[in-house]
Amino acid sequence: MPAMPEEIFGLDAALLMGLVTIIVTECPRAATASQWLWGGLWKSVKYAAHMRKSITPRSIADTITAAITMYAAGSIVLDAFSGVGGQSVSLAVAGLTVFACDINQTNVDHTMHNARVHGVAERLRMVCGDYFARIAGLAAKWIPIGRKFGAIHVDMPWGKAYEEEIYPLHRMGDGTLSAYDVLEAVAPLSDSFVFKCPRNVAIRDAVKLAYHVQSIKGGASTHTVAMPLVEVFVSGDKTVMAVIYIGDIAAKRLEDIAPPARVVDLTHKRWTIEQCAKSMLSRGKRVGCANVAFAPFA
Ligand SMILES: *[C@@H]1O[C@H](CO)[C@@H](O)[C@H](O)[C@H]1NC(C)=O
Repeated sequence: MPAMPEEIFGLDAALLMGLVTIIVTECPRAATASQWLWGGLWKSVKYAAHMRKSITPRSIADTITAAITMYAAGSIVLDAFSGVGGQSVSLAVAGLTVFACDINQTNVDHTMHNARVHGVAERLRMVCGDYFARIAGLAAKWIPIGRKFGAIHVDMPWGKAYEEEIYPLHRMGDGTLSAYDVLEAVAPLSDSFVFKCPRNVAIRDAVKLAYHVQSIKGGASTHTVAMPLVEVFVSGDKTVMAVIYIGDIAAKRLEDIAPPARVVDLTHKRWTIEQCAKSMLSRGKRVGCANVAFAPFA
């Protein structure tokens, strides 16, 4: 009996292949931990002490904002799970109009205050409520008239799973929040998605998430998996976090990035985003391209 392809390649026949580009961005250190989080206005902002570890450091927020400004179409951005508004404020300071949503009224009040001290409150439309309920309400109004956000930024709570060796995107927050469900709900409302995630997400799961969004939008086939872009933020020898760019924003930004000479084969490796970045940096490379095998999200 002839060998089945999966026996030859050691892969499950249900697996798909995807290409991913990874870029490493160095973040300048700040004088103090508070300045690292908020830049010059750290004395004026408000947030609950336990939210501190959830705030996106200012230089990272501003790098993401710059990518959205340059490569996403349209000036209205949705910031989902906006927390105390680190990313919302960065986006608004850059001149974008921000729709932000968070479930916690205290966080919402702090975000409004933080937007005011940055002088950008008029560009922020903030709602307090359950993500899925709010998105369903918006989708009912926007989809029939074809209205979309220029980009959607999602920064879900990471929760306890952060301590696991490989971070599970389907068990975020309190363990019941799935990144696949969250992006599926907003998929019709934009063509560009920016998903913030921990450094220990498996690189194959980044591709799987991108593929899921693409298949919801109707563009996926087993032959063409649009290439996501993963940006890894490092500070010194520390990997801080990562961002997965999906859709048009990834395609447009990739046009400006010189592709590496060779594609690394990661189909048999369970590497995290951080392991990819470390391997690239050890070879003096800031841009890498890898082939990964992944099982589509069912
Ligand atoms: C809302 O956030 C505040 C401050 O971060 C926190 O003390 C409170 O427990 C949160 N409320 C809920 C219902 O999670």
